[in-house]
Amino acid sequence: MGQQQVLEDTVAELIEDGKGILAADESAPTIAKRFSAVGVESTEEKRREYRSLIFSTPGLGDYISGVILYEETLRQSSLDNIAIPELLRNQGIVPGIKVDKGKIPLVNAPGDEITVGLDGLEERLQGYRDQGARFAKWRDVYHITDTNPGRLAIEANAEVLARYAAICQSLGVVPIVEPEVLMDGHHTIERCAQVNEAVLREVFHALDRHGVLLEGMLLKPSMVTAGKSHTSKASPEQVAEATLKVFRRVVPAAVPGVVFLSGGQTPEEATSNLNALNQHGPHPWALSFSYGRALQEPAQKAWAGSLENGPAAQEAMHKRAKLNGVARNGSYTPDMER
Ligand code: 13P
Repeated sequence: MGQQQVLEDTVAELIEDGKGILAADESAPTIAKRFSAVGVESTEEKRREYRSLIFSTPGLGDYISGVILYEETLRQSSLDNIAIPELLRNQGIVPGIKVDKGKIPLVNAPGDEITVGLDGLEERLQGYRDQGARFAKWRDVYHITDTNPGRLAIEANAEVLARYAAICQSLGVVPIVEPEVLMDGHHTIERCAQVNEAVLREVFHALDRHGVLLEGMLLKPSMVTAGKSHTSKASPEQVAEATLKVFRRVVPAAVPGVVFLSGGQTPEEATSNLNALNQHGPHPWALSFSYGRALQEPAQKAWAGSLENGPAAQEAMHKRAKLNGVARNGSYTPDMER
């Protein structure tokens, strides 16, 4: 099978109807923050316990097509001693891997950051692929202020994102291209739309420059919303309209799927917004989810560090996965939360 076919087949599995991606690739410092919110100290064993639990949720594969793992988890085994990638495959879920190495300040661009991790990426990816990863994720981060992100940050981040995507595709690994425009700030939904449009436009220029096959990748963007500290919250209807207006301008129809991040929306908001987006269809791209917090928060609360709470945590995981699966075709209603 040609490399292009390998990429397109993986993409098709990841955007299958009624399913989406679970982002469980929190770095050690980030998962420590999430665990601390539920009173759990983050040790390697606790991370293994928690992730093994949620990945073993009965029926998870009915609603989750792929899971993004952190490097540590790819090497771990479940509580029943099954290698995590194998556990996922047994659930009908495609294993993926986060490959960026986080962000640092971008020199000469006050307030802006750049994502690092290109050095040695090809060799690392070959190793991950041998361990079972069929897709990857790289996250760029953009802050919104009156002056950020600046031109330099928009161009420099697009360039590294495109280089990452090209390297992935050369190895038959599907790149998830994630330019995250953060929700933090007082900005209006209009300002958020303006930044997302500029960022995405530059990302697609760079992807083209690097010869990235659009049919063999997925885009993981933010939704267009008002800033978290803005006086009023945009309704799902407003979020859908603003997001689609930007995407129609800058996301080529050849991109098979858009898998949104949740970015700090509550679990219910993330589901309602995805649902509204899909009610506005048909769209040229599948509109799906690749949520971290919005899928996991209730499960983490239910678990609270105790194996005895395993069934409750799995139930919470199953519920969010299912409701987001329903939102993929626009038929979610808030009364399904009960
Ligand atoms: P959130 O859905 O919590 O934003 O996480 C998604 C993700 O993978 C961020 O890189």
